[in-house]
Amino acid sequence: MLVNGKPYRSIWLEENGPCFAIIDQTKLPHQFVIKRLATLEDAITAISDMLVRGAPLIGATTACGICLALLEDSSDAGLEKACSRLLQARPTAVNLRWAVERMRGVLHNVSPAGRVVVAYREAEDICNEDVEINSSLGGHGVELIKQHQHADRPVNILTHCNAGWLATVDWGTALSPIFKAQEAGIDVHVWVDETRPRNQGAHLTAWELDAAGISHHLVVDNAGGHLMQQGSVDLCIVGTDRTAANGDVCNKIGTYLKALAAFDNNIPFYVALPGSTIDWTLDSGADIPIEKRDQDEVLQVYGTTNGRDITRVKIAPKNTPAANPAFDVTPARLVTGLITERGVCTASREGLLSLYPGKR
Ligand code: MRU
Repeated sequence: MLVNGKPYRSIWLEENGPCFAIIDQTKLPHQFVIKRLATLEDAITAISDMLVRGAPLIGATTACGICLALLEDSSDAGLEKACSRLLQARPTAVNLRWAVERMRGVLHNVSPAGRVVVAYREAEDICNEDVEINSSLGGHGVELIKQHQHADRPVNILTHCNAGWLATVDWGTALSPIFKAQEAGIDVHVWVDETRPRNQGAHLTAWELDAAGISHHLVVDNAGGHLMQQGSVDLCIVGTDRTAANGDVCNKIGTYLKALAAFDNNIPFYVALPGSTIDWTLDSGADIPIEKRDQDEVLQVYGTTNGRDITRVKIAPKNTPAANPAFDVTPARLVTGLITERGVCTASREGLLSLYPGKR
């Protein structure tokens, strides 16, 4: 996507390699900072401290982290150590495990001397495929948006967290149909949930939509139900960090409440995902590990007072502790459909198997 007229992806190989570059998402929207990933440690920190985040981008960064680790040690032990370190970086997005398994799969039978070249090629494939996949799911999603067009007003779409191009290598998942709608000349307006505690909606989704010139309003997380009751939401589209084989989806905390409100108001609730976000080993969302993050993310907010420098501000009494579950599970029965690169299906095992035959 374009940033100040220049095309960017969220992660890329630096010219001549071997290091990768990312956009430091902890600094947006106040600063646009590019950071270099030179070591496995850099990649792990980028994932766990959320310089990069969003399930598909976590997967892509994992693949790049393995490349960097192999530069130091391409032995079997080196590969295994890198994989197990990366697997600890964040627990919920299954794309991390997916990327480890894919990289391990191609590297397993390659001699240590040949591993670096193969790893870089595979990581590049993962990144390029992610772009294609998200573009393709956007094409399927825009058909759903078209069903809600009116002559006299825009299609109003509510989204939660950031499932835009910053959460993937490019295009995004939930935002991809919205970017495609804009390309197709469809009048869209987006309600952007701020997404406490880390405010990915306010910091990242609003920034992406603003940069793309797409009409949007930022709303507090609790506004969605009211907007739906008022008839101000035509459809919801969100992303997912892990989709169980029965169609349950695990996404940023608060997604479940939006799905409940959409259900009560008879508003379609769609979830957009690449195939790499499906966990075929899980029969339901009940067993998805829910990340618990630092309480300071709840007890503090961060922003700027001068338009550039980022400051943290405490918002609770000094002795009040906080709980910070980062994700929740939305049961399949509340999901109108899953938008994938292969088309749209019901949120069910049968629906997923119709698009991904041969999976368990
Ligand atoms: O904690 P984050 O910012 O990594 O959470 C991201 C989300 O919840 C996204 O909605 C999800 O990863 C889908 S991204 C295309």
